[in-house]
Amino acid sequence: MATREKGLINPIFMLILAFLCSHALYSSSVAATNTIRIGDEVNATSNLVSENGNFTLGLFTVSSPNSSYFGIWYTNDVQRRKVWVANPNSPITSSSGVLTIDSTGTLKITSGGNTIMLLSAQNGTANATATLEDSGNFVLIDGVQRTLWQSFDHPTNTLLPGMKLGYNLTSGQNWTLTSWLSDYIPASGAFTLTLESDGESAQLVIHQRGELYWTSGPWSNHNFMYTSELISPLNTYQYNLHLFSSGDWKYFTYDAVDASLGILELSSNGQILDGANNLAVSDYDFCYGLGLGGCVNKVLPGCRSQRNWFQEMSANFPGALSSYDFNSSLSLSDCMERCWNDCNCVGFANANNGTGCILWSGNIEFQIDNRGDALKYVLAPGKPSKGKTWIWAVVAIAIFLCLLTLGALWYKRIKKSRIEGEERKRQKENLLALTASDSLNHVNDVENNGRKGHDLNTFSFASIAAATNNFADENKLGEGGFGPVYKYTQ
Ligand SMILES: *[C@@H]1O[C@H](CO)[C@@H](O)[C@H](O)[C@H]1NC(C)=O
Ligand SMILES: *[C@@H]1O[C@H](CO)[C@@H](O)[C@H](O)[C@H]1NC(C)=O
Ligand SMILES: *[C@@H]1O[C@H](CO)[C@@H](O)[C@H](O)[C@H]1NC(C)=O
Ligand SMILES: *[C@@H]1O[C@H](CO)[C@@H](O)[C@H](O)[C@H]1NC(C)=O
Ligand SMILES: *[C@@H]1O[C@H](CO)[C@@H](O)[C@H](O)[C@H]1NC(C)=O
Ligand SMILES: *[C@@H]1O[C@H](CO)[C@@H](O)[C@H](O)[C@H]1NC(C)=O
Ligand SMILES: *[C@@H]1O[C@H](CO)[C@@H](O)[C@H](O)[C@H]1NC(C)=O
Ligand SMILES: *[C@@H]1O[C@H](CO)[C@@H](O)[C@H](O)[C@H]1NC(C)=O
Ligand SMILES: *[C@@H]1O[C@H](CO)[C@@H](O)[C@H](O)[C@H]1NC(C)=O
Repeated sequence: MATREKGLINPIFMLILAFLCSHALYSSSVAATNTIRIGDEVNATSNLVSENGNFTLGLFTVSSPNSSYFGIWYTNDVQRRKVWVANPNSPITSSSGVLTIDSTGTLKITSGGNTIMLLSAQNGTANATATLEDSGNFVLIDGVQRTLWQSFDHPTNTLLPGMKLGYNLTSGQNWTLTSWLSDYIPASGAFTLTLESDGESAQLVIHQRGELYWTSGPWSNHNFMYTSELISPLNTYQYNLHLFSSGDWKYFTYDAVDASLGILELSSNGQILDGANNLAVSDYDFCYGLGLGGCVNKVLPGCRSQRNWFQEMSANFPGALSSYDFNSSLSLSDCMERCWNDCNCVGFANANNGTGCILWSGNIEFQIDNRGDALKYVLAPGKPSKGKTWIWAVVAIAIFLCLLTLGALWYKRIKKSRIEGEERKRQKENLLALTASDSLNHVNDVENNGRKGHDLNTFSFASIAAATNNFADENKLGEGGFGPVYKYTQ
């Protein structure tokens, strides 16, 4: 019986093994590809991976709205942040998206045979190939190694090490970052990050829907005035910033000592984030027009003061008037702008999943509401809290640990000197008394005997070992702040 079973299982097992092996081989051969040629395609089941694996290019889908995009991400990024998106404003809404080089050498995205978007110009180039490089650049070259098109020339919301942000007047090129509409929707959002000439020098500038929002301040000492967080020794990635210029072109670029997740991202709220998702330049969720940290100084609406700001919290507004705008091109920052400028507005949130606006208005107090889906921005009185409260938390914890260590050392020293100062005679007395006693009262007696004019009772190690049956587990009652507690046995 047993042998028959074995005989049956073996071929099935071998089949499964063969399938797994061929599948693994197939996947690895697909995964090893970093280049497509004319007629090849990237689709839902085949990604490109750069030579050393640093970057992956593939199709990704966002569920709301139900759309797909081709994007590039750091293979090792657990957050899968898309450092580049091929078709942010031309989403694929059917199930099948294909990135391919057609017979004329044009890089394009199609779906069900229809062209969704041309990435490169239709020059009719033979032998074109497109390669995902280890820098994260996706480059289309012709048969004689001329660059026809590259993703680094069409940035979305992220600047990678080696990418340019700036302009070239001779070629008419602008390298500009554009924020996503929301954290999940790659469509162009409210913010752009550009490099603007500032006489001989240049500075980084963020516009919100075309209006000046934030400036980096002047360049000096390999840094802009308001980007010091990037070059701070506390920053994991240790960014080195560079500004290059000649008569007709200027650009900003950077490299990172730890390039493994080098990222400068223009967030959907108009902030600049580094690879660890830390705010790199501004301490606030939004600029309030107060002229702080690079945020431009604006005339405040009459009803708003320097002490007003919006706080994200789980809350609701019982009895407040709510107004909805389901325009799916509105980002959270647009809602903030509307609420800030409306003197009756006390809070806002997105109306759809990441787009549109709800504004609450009225002379109304918000109520804390701990349902997870109730996240809103609520107008809070008081100065915007600097995002640096964690530093104080770290300092407080450090001081606490320091005191704790000192206390422990002090306690240990006292204990040691006491033990050393204990007379052998008294230890023997205690040991004898302990081993001879048969009730807790006796122990109390012993404790009283052991008292030496201070609050702590002292016993020799041997006496305690004996009393706890050599620290046997069955004698252990529990564990307190000072260590395990044992039951006394005879
Ligand atoms: C996806 O692309 C791979 C490699 O180019 C190809 O072998 C496969 O047939 C494609 N899948 C579909 C569903 O077209
Ligand atoms: C909202 O969008 C996120 C990200 O695309 C998605 O995970 C979530 O399911 C969506 N929620 C709803 C209610 O559509
Ligand atoms: C999203 O699109 C896929 C493919 O077209 C479809 O199967 C799925 O039902 C859609 N989901 C929603 C929530 O519309
Ligand atoms: C391809 O054509 C575009 C215009 O369609 C032109 O700007 C570009 O210089 C051409 N590239 C080459 C390599 O001929
Ligand atoms: C690829 O990743 C490795 C390991 O993180 C890194 O040492 C190397 O510099 C990266 N290559 C490029 C071109 O960024
Ligand atoms: C394309 O490749 C073929 C074979 O490698 C070669 O004979 C031909 O000259 C190439 N054409 C161009 C325009 O580079
Ligand atoms: C600017 O464009 C000109 C003309 O295309 C080119 O020769 C030059 O190398 C470009 N400079 C930079 C820094 O891209
Ligand atoms: C580049 O940006 C400048 C202003 O920043 C604008 O005037 C110009 O039209 C842009 N050029 C292109 C090709 O987008
Ligand atoms: C939706 O909002 C966008 C961005 O503010 C605006 O440009 C557009 O006109 C609005 N559309 C409608 C129909 O209101």
